[in-house]
Amino acid sequence: MFRIRNKEKLAKDITRIIVEAPVIAKEVKAGQFAMVVIDEKSERIPLTLADWNKVEGTITFIFQEVGFTTKKLGQLNIGDYIQHILGPLGHATEIKNFGTVVCIGGGVGVAEVYPVSHAFKQAGNRVTGIIGARSKDLLILEKEMREVCDELFITTDDGSYGRKGFPTDAMKELFSVIEKSTHTKYPDLVYCIGPVPMMKAVSALTKDYNIKTIVSLNPIMVDATGMCGSCRCTVAGITLFGCVDGPEFDGLQVDFDELERRLR
Ligand code: FES
Repeated sequence: MFRIRNKEKLAKDITRIIVEAPVIAKEVKAGQFAMVVIDEKSERIPLTLADWNKVEGTITFIFQEVGFTTKKLGQLNIGDYIQHILGPLGHATEIKNFGTVVCIGGGVGVAEVYPVSHAFKQAGNRVTGIIGARSKDLLILEKEMREVCDELFITTDDGSYGRKGFPTDAMKELFSVIEKSTHTKYPDLVYCIGPVPMMKAVSALTKDYNIKTIVSLNPIMVDATGMCGSCRCTVAGITLFGCVDGPEFDGLQVDFDELERRLR
C-alpha cells in the first residue's frame, strides 16, 4: 500500500500527487514510469515518474483526468492509499553531456520532460526548453522548467500566453535564428514528449536537419512486462514493445502513423 502524502491541482484536470514509495524512489532514473493499480477493482495504468525524493522516499505522479481510472485517482486525497505501484519500469533516458539539448513537452507531457531536462542540465548540457499547452490555464510546471533550463519558450494554441501556436512553431523559429547566426549551432539532441501529432511533427522537422531525436511514446499498455503485446510499435521497421524496449525511441525511425491508428 502506498500512502498519498500530498496532492495539488496544477491546472484544470491536471493533478500532482506525491506518494510514499521509498524503494521506487531509491531506484528511479529520469525517463522511467510505473504501473499503478488504485485498488483491487481497478485496471493497471502507466504513469511517468515525474519527480522523486530519495531522502524522503517519495515519488511524484502528474496526470490528466481523462478516463475512468485517472478520474478515480484524482478523487483520492492526502492520507489515502494506492494499492499497487510497480516500478520503476522501462529504460532510463541516456543522460550524458551531448552539448546543447532542446527539450520539448506538450500538454501533460511537460510533467515528463521536466525530470529529463533536469538530468540533462545536471550532466552539463545547455538546455533549451519548449513547453506548450492549449491555453494558459492548462500550462504546467513553468516555474520548475525555468529553474532547469538555460532558456525557456512557451507556446499556447490559442495565444493566451507565450507565443501563439505549437511547440513545433517555436522550434522552427529557433532553427531560423540559428540559420542566420554565425555563433550558434543546431542542437546536438532534441528530446520530445507529448501528443503523438506533436512528436511526429517535431521528428519530421529534425529529420530535415539530421538532428538526433528521442521521443517518449505512450502506447496502450496492459501488463507492462513484454507479454501482452498491446504496446507494440514499429521502429526502423522492427516491432518493439513500449514497456520493455522503451518508452524512448529514435524519433526519426518511429512509425507515428501506426501509433496514431493503434491509439485510436
Ligand atoms: Fe504488454 Fe508492453 S504492455 S507487452
